[in-house]
Amino acid sequence: MKQPTAGEKPLCIVTGAAGFIGSHVVDRLLGQGHAVIGIDNFVRGRRQHLAPALANPDFMLFDIDCTDARLMIDEIGFHLKGKPFDTFWHLAANSDVAAGASDPGIDLHATFMTTFAALEVMKKLGLSRIAFASSSAIYGAHDGSVGEDHGPLMPASNYGAMKLASEAIISAATETFLERAWLFRFPNVVGRRGTHGVIFDLLRKLQKGPPALEVLGDGNQCKPYLHVDDIVDAMWFIWTHANDRLNFHNIGPDDEGASVRFIAEEVVRVAGSQIPLKFTGGDRGWVGDIPRFSYDTQKLRTLGWSATRNSQDAIRIAARELFEELKRP
Ligand SMILES: NC(=O)c1ccc[n+]([C@@H]2O[C@H](COP(=O)([O-])OP(=O)(O)OC[C@H]3O[C@@H](n4cnc5c(N)ncnc54)[C@H](O)[C@@H]3O)[C@@H](O)[C@H]2O)c1
Repeated sequence: MKQPTAGEKPLCIVTGAAGFIGSHVVDRLLGQGHAVIGIDNFVRGRRQHLAPALANPDFMLFDIDCTDARLMIDEIGFHLKGKPFDTFWHLAANSDVAAGASDPGIDLHATFMTTFAALEVMKKLGLSRIAFASSSAIYGAHDGSVGEDHGPLMPASNYGAMKLASEAIISAATETFLERAWLFRFPNVVGRRGTHGVIFDLLRKLQKGPPALEVLGDGNQCKPYLHVDDIVDAMWFIWTHANDRLNFHNIGPDDEGASVRFIAEEVVRVAGSQIPLKFTGGDRGWVGDIPRFSYDTQKLRTLGWSATRNSQDAIRIAARELFEELKRP
């Protein structure tokens, strides 16, 4: 692809652009002087997440199912002609892990086939750099802190399995046409514009005015959480500093995580409620849930990035942000 000339803005594609994390990635790219093509089929994404971007002349939005490579090539190929292309940010996926447990087709379609189609589009259009939103779910259940060299990888959810398959097919493509790939292994991400997840679910339940707040599991599930501002910072840092052909990093806070009990208590506190918590019991919230998870982030720290907020701070901030958002009509 063409190199940018003076004054020309490098162009990026972001799939899942109207989603929680994707919309923040779009804002960051635009803010840093890129032009952006956003793609989303709005199964979970919201147009209002893109309000700032839609006011920017350097942003274009396409309502397309990312499994349809032919349609993406037809609709988007034209807009890439003669432009300096930078990176294809692939964030579209199913984000409802529990739904994927009962219907494996959900993750086959939204989590894997979107990656397969993204690579098909890139190959056809001559795009050679991909940044991919992967997940801690690829590691499955394990003891101790898990580093990037952990193996064998045995995911416990169809979601994790399809993220792992996506990483694998991206890896294979670096042997053929991809010049550079970044695989970001996210922990749980929280913050404004959230579309799902434990804080979101608990606030939604509270809004219905129940006599007690139902919490899935025994409350002792404990995982690392990162605020969305930190995840976007980390992705940006890795994207601009990791220069191997295939780059893969755990991204997480430097702590042991926050418990579900802590999160539920924080949600009740932020909402100014007094209602008791009612735990459904068992050590996990749903089939495919990983009750305890700990990330080794040494590789990322050695590269030069650490989170500014720990898991509990991320939860506190996100609970406030989401409470305010969910109050709005
Ligand atoms: N939020 C987290 O805690 C977390 C953790 C690990 C990994 N991730 C990954 O980060 C990425 C973004 O997640 P998120 O939390 O913003 O979820 P999200 O659901 O808010 O965003 C995903 C977006 O993809 C869109 N999408 C889904 N299927 C599509 C399709 N076939 N075609 C076009 N668009 C489609 C949805 O409409 C949504 O806007 C996902 O790949 C997710 O797996 C998120």
